[in-house]
Amino acid sequence: MSAKNGAIANGGGSVFRSPTFMANRDAPIHRWVPWIAGYSKHFVEDALTRFTDGPSVVLDPFAGVGTTLVEADLSGHTAVGFEINPYAAFASQTKLRAHRAAPARLREAVQDFRAFMFKALKKDIQPSAAPPDAFRTRSPFYSPKVQHKVLLALDFISEQDSRVADIFRLAFASSMVDFSNYSYEPSLSRKATVGRPEVEDFPVTEALGGKVSQMADDVAWYRRERVTGRRRDGRVLRQSFFDGYRRIEEGSVDLLITSPPYLNNYHYNRNTRPHLYWLGFCDSPRDLKCLEELNFGTYWQNARDQEQVELVPEIDDTDIRRTLAEVRRQNPEKGIYGGHGWANYATLYFNDCVRFIEGARWCLRSGATALVVLGNSILQGVPVPTDRFLAKIARSHGFEVMDIHVPRDTRVGSSIVNSSVRAGTVNGHRLYESVVELRRL
Ligand SMILES: C[S@@+](CC[C@H](N)C(=O)[O-])C[C@H]1O[C@@H](n2cnc3c(N)ncnc32)[C@H](O)[C@@H]1O
Repeated sequence: MSAKNGAIANGGGSVFRSPTFMANRDAPIHRWVPWIAGYSKHFVEDALTRFTDGPSVVLDPFAGVGTTLVEADLSGHTAVGFEINPYAAFASQTKLRAHRAAPARLREAVQDFRAFMFKALKKDIQPSAAPPDAFRTRSPFYSPKVQHKVLLALDFISEQDSRVADIFRLAFASSMVDFSNYSYEPSLSRKATVGRPEVEDFPVTEALGGKVSQMADDVAWYRRERVTGRRRDGRVLRQSFFDGYRRIEEGSVDLLITSPPYLNNYHYNRNTRPHLYWLGFCDSPRDLKCLEELNFGTYWQNARDQEQVELVPEIDDTDIRRTLAEVRRQNPEKGIYGGHGWANYATLYFNDCVRFIEGARWCLRSGATALVVLGNSILQGVPVPTDRFLAKIARSHGFEVMDIHVPRDTRVGSSIVNSSVRAGTVNGHRLYESVVELRRL
């Protein structure tokens, strides 16, 4: 059955390769930053091949660590993105500027770094850098030996020119959790709580030096592979798409490829706290709170205590209303952990789907395509087909729904707090991942 009458295309025959981020782990540039909520470069390649015909303007309103933007830039398109998380935006921007760095200069900087660390450790030099004051964790994030090395590395980085420093800072940020006493499970947790040993000591110099050497190789690769031709350099706007979309000229975008946060309460800000504090993007819990408020939808933790939240009038759809009412009825005895809180959370999510679609309609030219990667949800045992609901909202806001592809028909839930959706299947309902294909009328 086709998506147009409400059902979902079969997974096996999707025109897109799986969007899971795993495929990026070995790919030059993309491998710089592992991002649990990212999608694969292959998916973006497929999308660009299918939906562009010559140099185009490609937009990703929720850019993450820049998978769309890097692929678009590599293939000769003008790439523009929005991202609220300063660490993710920094990662995207640094990757997009990679072609401007000189690999030989980076390799030289790696030699200097090794020499600096060797000397500083041998002479027991005290670092000038200090750990971020307001970054509090239950147990020490770094053991004393590791922290000493990290601070020395930061001293070295602070002496470099901005291009080299940015690459080193990204190398540090993307590996900083590996040598900490924390790990992703998939949310940031203490290693001790999952039975893993704390990290007493770690070869920080080797890890960072090795990472930057690999980045230098990738920079050389990027400069070779990047399609030449006239286009603007890729850019990321560190701002909410909802507030900033009018900065894009109306009707100027040829293709939108994105993956907004899923309805799974994955907490981007908490999970990047170490990066935000240690890179100086955040000085206090108030800064994190501001980021939470900008996030697509909100977090369940902010929605569960509120009075009943209503759908905006622009969502005039009985199917969506009924589903949310059903979620709301579940498990009243669980108080804030029951259906009411999750229904509030989902309502705010769909209200933001309207804002997203309005922004997309502003940016895209008539006839242009939007591809939106989304996972469905199962809240309190109730299936919530986010893909079909987004398609309905888009249909009533100036888009034609061309298809709903399902490149991944089984997915394991990643971070639904207290909603029993950690397994791939709940009450016979399955988690999957779709690509909603829309055409701007
Ligand atoms: C699923 S991730 C995108 C991952 C991306 N496709 C990649 O491969 O890296 C969603 C991103 O949306 C960002 N985000 C959430 N709300 C936003 C908003 N209002 N405006 C812009 N970005 C937002 C989050 O910080 C997160 O990085």
